[in-house]
Amino acid sequence: MVALLPRSISPTRTWGIIRSAALGHSLEDEEPMTELVVRQLLIDLNTPVPARWNGGDAFRSAYFNALSMSFPVGEQYFIDSVRQGVKTLPEDLRERFAAEVQGFVGQEATHRRIHALFNGHLERLGYRNEFERRVLKRMKLNAHRDLRVHVGATAATEHFTAIFAHWMLRHPEALQGAEPRLQTLWQWHAAEESEHRSTAFDVYVAMGGSHEWRLKIFRYVTITFLSDVLRQTVRNLWHDGSLFQWSTWRSGARLLFARDGMIRGNYARWRDYLAPDFHPSQHDAGLAQQWLRDHASQYSVVGQTG
Ligand SMILES: [Fe+2]
Ligand SMILES: [Fe+2]
Repeated sequence: MVALLPRSISPTRTWGIIRSAALGHSLEDEEPMTELVVRQLLIDLNTPVPARWNGGDAFRSAYFNALSMSFPVGEQYFIDSVRQGVKTLPEDLRERFAAEVQGFVGQEATHRRIHALFNGHLERLGYRNEFERRVLKRMKLNAHRDLRVHVGATAATEHFTAIFAHWMLRHPEALQGAEPRLQTLWQWHAAEESEHRSTAFDVYVAMGGSHEWRLKIFRYVTITFLSDVLRQTVRNLWHDGSLFQWSTWRSGARLLFARDGMIRGNYARWRDYLAPDFHPSQHDAGLAQQWLRDHASQYSVVGQTG
């Protein structure tokens, strides 16, 4: 798989040209970047999390646990890639990105901290995080790649988190029966993923990342990410003792492969990323904004009082 990735990629177009093509207007019309705020969750994460915290459902718990296990290492990688990527831009673009990247970094840093607390509970229940070990190994193998590849991999993974996030907000039943504090944790993360879905993509384009490599990296990320999630889910189910139960896989099939399941129902959105004129803002974030409005009592905005 590693061979799929380039040692370097040549910039073929500039940010203005690509983004203008994607959004259908000229560089002169560029609106200011998104305002991203950092939110501190006001929920209890000290109380232990039960093994089948997601409504007593073995598959739903194991699958979400697998995703959570990828977050601390993955989100640190996103932070590092985007931060480094922005540093390579000309000063005017750096300034234009400054506030948005600061918000992006703040949000991802908060996610990884909260999920590390959540994962700590899983660790105490005896779950082993092999996902993280595999990601670290792959990061080491790919460390020499062009910075645009890392930002491209971040943008590709952020596409997954954004479409999964939107799906979760559309399907609150995926967390049915979970304690309200855990529903809040997952939905807050989903809302912010949806909110900052364009940041890494825009930095990639601004760095001169090409469409061709954007697709190659996306295919690579699709295979590695989905297989890592599946492997860790299986491992979690093994530890839970429910790997060979029909009810486990019935629930898995319903969650992922029902007509509007998390995987099958997202195929069209996954595919949108392949279009030459794709931009993440083409996907609506209305559900995320709605969730953030309706749950304002569950978080405080960092740097704001009252
Ligand atoms: Fe995140
Ligand atoms: Fe993110």
